[in-house]
Parts: sequence; structure tokens; C-alpha cells
Amino acid sequence: MHVLETERLIVRQLRIEDAEFILELLNEPGFIQNIGDRGVRTVADAEQYILNGPVASYQQNGFGLWMVALKESGEPIGMGGLIKRDILEDVDIGYAFLHRFWGKGYAYEAALAVLHYGRDVIGLKRIVAITAPENPGSIRVLEKIGLRFVKMINLPGYDEESRFFEVDF
Ligand SMILES: CC(C)(COP(=O)(O)OP(=O)(O)OC[C@H]1O[C@@H](n2cnc3c(N)ncnc32)[C@H](O)[C@@H]1OP(=O)(O)O)[C@@H](O)C(=O)NCCC(=O)NCCS
Repeated sequence: MHVLETERLIVRQLRIEDAEFILELLNEPGFIQNIGDRGVRTVADAEQYILNGPVASYQQNGFGLWMVALKESGEPIGMGGLIKRDILEDVDIGYAFLHRFWGKGYAYEAALAVLHYGRDVIGLKRIVAITAPENPGSIRVLEKIGLRFVKMINLPGYDEESRFFEVDF
């Protein structure tokens, strides 16, 4: 299901058929280092991840992590979206792209559109974000779309402290 589009990108809901792409994305070193190891090792694991994570969130919240694809070719390049976690009071923005598509402005373009969607379509008054302490790429994307660093926080289930960002509308 279509969510939004930007100049170069299409953002749509993830579905079970995206399992091969999710398997690749979740096992890239950049994903494991900066987000975590989700233990997804097979296409079947990836199908379960899609159903229990993003798809469950669409049903529960009306939003979640979505697929980001190139408008021109339809090729999937990453995921991005909005997440409601039990451990955070506010909805947070998240994204991850395949390494071969880094450095082209895609994360910024997708994240800005997702932020506006959260504000204008969902009606959120505040969006937050968390990153690993040393993730300069993600920190730069957040600052470029208007979030500000607030503090370091300790979150349950994370070994190290996280950087906490926010923006109020
Ligand atoms: C973080 C990530 C999404 C950035 O994606 P990207 O498509 O390369 O980002 P963009 O091309 O849109 O770049 C946006 C800005 O960040 C800067 N940037 C990107 N990577 C950077 C890095 N490693 N160090 C410093 N700046 C960086 C870009 O230069 C650009 O800033 P500019 O416009 O001032 O030049 C990507 O590296 C990724 O998927 N990482 C793994 C998953 C992850 O860490 N997700 C975030 C979890 S909180």
C-alpha cells in the first residue's frame, strides 16, 4: 500500500514478498552495528520479522517502518518510518538503507517526507529519535530534518547509551 512519494522515492507498506530484501538489509554490517542484530538469517525469519514488526504496527498504529524504493525503477533501497515503542513515550523516526545506496541524499529525502507525514497526516505534535552514540550519518540526517539532540539515555534492552533527539511542532 502506497504511503507517500518524494521527488525520487516511493514509500509504501512492507509485505511478506519483501522478505529477501529485508534479509539482505538486516544483515548488512551498518544495520547490525548501528541498529542491532535482529537474528534474521533466512527468508522465513524475514517473513516473520515483517509480520510481527512492521505489519503488526500498521494494524495497531496505522504506521510503522515502511519500504523505500526508487521511483524510476521500483528497486527497494531501504526502509524508513515511524515507530511506537513501549520504551518511549513518543513516536520515533527510524531508517536504514542498503550500503550501496548511501551518500546520495536518499535518507534525508525519505526522512524529511516521513517527518512531514507524521506531522501533517498522522497529526503528531512531537517526533523523537534514538541513535547509537557514534552514528554520524544518522545524527546528520536527524539534524538536517530539524531534530535536536537532547540527552544521552539508557534504554532497556540496549547495551550502551543512546542519543535522544526530538522536535516539537
Ligand atoms: C544513516 C544512513 C541512513 C544515512 O544514509 P544516507 O542515504 O547515506 O544519507 P544521506 O545521503 O541522505 O545524507 C544526509 C546527510 O548526512 C551526511 N552523512 C551521511 N553519512 C555520513 C557519515 N557517515 N558521516 C558524516 N556525515 C554523513 C551526508 O553528508 C548528508 O549531509 P550533507 O547534506 O550536509 O552533506 C545510512 O548510513 C544507513 O542506512 N546506516 C545504517 C542504518 C542506520 O544507522 N540507521 C539509523 C539508525 S538510528
